[in-house]
Amino acid sequence: MLSRINSLITEINSLQINDPVELETFRIKYLGKKGIISDLFEEFRDVSPSDKKNIGQILNKLKQTATDKYNDFKNRLSFSSASSGQNDLTRPCYPWELGSRHPISIIRNEIIRIFERIGFTVSEGPEIEDDDHNFTCLNFAPEHPARDMQDTFYISRISSEDSNPGDILLRTHTSSVQVRVMHNQKPPIRTISPGRVFRNEAISARAHCIFHQVEGLYIDENVSFADLKQTLLFFAREMYGKNTKIRLRPSYFPFTEPSGEMDVSCTICGGKGCNVCKYTGWLEVLGCGMVHPAVLDACNIDSAKYTGFAFGMGIERPAMLKYQVNDLRLYFENDIRFLGQFSTSF
Ligand code: PHE
Repeated sequence: MLSRINSLITEINSLQINDPVELETFRIKYLGKKGIISDLFEEFRDVSPSDKKNIGQILNKLKQTATDKYNDFKNRLSFSSASSGQNDLTRPCYPWELGSRHPISIIRNEIIRIFERIGFTVSEGPEIEDDDHNFTCLNFAPEHPARDMQDTFYISRISSEDSNPGDILLRTHTSSVQVRVMHNQKPPIRTISPGRVFRNEAISARAHCIFHQVEGLYIDENVSFADLKQTLLFFAREMYGKNTKIRLRPSYFPFTEPSGEMDVSCTICGGKGCNVCKYTGWLEVLGCGMVHPAVLDACNIDSAKYTGFAFGMGIERPAMLKYQVNDLRLYFENDIRFLGQFSTSF
């Protein structure tokens, strides 16, 4: 028995194992429940007591040799299969599908970055608003047409009167967020509020009932219209290029006085006139103005001490211009053939 065991040890030591199948065969043959070593342990029971010590030692050595061999080759084979997988340059690569940002997000982030550089914070608020934040605190008269069902999606109307502070609606602009900021913070306030807004409009290539805005608010002592103009000029040059010109036209919003509308020189033709700017050389970009004292008072800010400016712009139009998208609806359909065309580093 001794010589049989010894020759098995020599046999195992000289064995070569080349792949996982051979390794498994080895395990079953030597280390399996019905394998050679297990048989030898069976036989060992009948060995005479005087030989037990000698044979026992060598039998244990055999078992150890087989186990070491098995573990050694198991490690080597798993290592070589992992490394050969990595180094096999002929293997096909995985079809990793990289996502991309939505074009509206890209433009929104661009706008946010510009204003962040001149000290504006970003504030957000709820899309479901009440009449107070969306209209009343913003100096909308009770009979103002913007409150009408034709413009506003009402979730619940408390009464049939024209306005009721308890009315719940989908915000029609993010000015409602600025009302919240004015209620919660003391001047100086310098913030922009990007977000989704809702208006009851027929959906077409140029209009949608959901769109996105970035509105801005700056309140401090001695804020003047010159500050507004300079801020907007800075924004326009950063956003549309350093040779961009701006022009302000008088306008009307209940929450600003005076109010204006800003145009930028056409980004396509540079102001010469083309079909995008309808041969005017100008593109309408945003609404703006000095915050109406009634708005400051409604938000508990002393209108005798503080003044401010506000502005608001849609994101869809500039995004359409930048990416030459001619149908607004594409932004909402989430067709990945469309979305996959926009890549950016942020
Ligand atoms: N809230 C206005 C709108 O939705 C935009 C605006 C904001 C105009 C601030 C003036 C000042 O159209």
